[in-house]
Amino acid sequence: MWEYTDKVMEHFWKPRNVGEIADPDGVGEVGSIACGDVLRLTFKVDENKRITEAKFKTFGCASAIAAASALTEMLKGLTVEEAEKITNQDIAASLGGLPPQKMHCSVLGEQVLEKAIAYYRGQPGETEAEEIICE
Ligand code: FES
Ligand code: FES
Repeated sequence: MWEYTDKVMEHFWKPRNVGEIADPDGVGEVGSIACGDVLRLTFKVDENKRITEAKFKTFGCASAIAAASALTEMLKGLTVEEAEKITNQDIAASLGGLPPQKMHCSVLGEQVLEKAIAYYRGQPGETEAEEIICE
């Protein structure tokens, strides 16, 4: 039987960057049809297009909390172009893996990042929660 890695547990018990940035440059929110959970991401970008700060809020499960926490840590210091390349596989890998039946929770991270970047690029309609279908 699959067990959560120490990294997942650690991010779950001590999630990094929980909250919401006031006046963010990027903001996105997604919800999952399969489990009904919601994840919101905000980030701040400096004049060199580097992400200086990222925060999340979620109603998701332990895996979603750990995945979002890991994602916000990964984002800091990256350019938006670099951040755009992050996949849910990268998020899961940074946690030492997720149980197969929980990989979809990391998909929320990838999707919300996509939306927050779209907002940053000037598509403000992108802040509404939108249901996604995870595998
Ligand atoms: Fe809903 Fe993980 S976010 S099951
Ligand atoms: Fe939980 Fe996909 S069902 S995030």
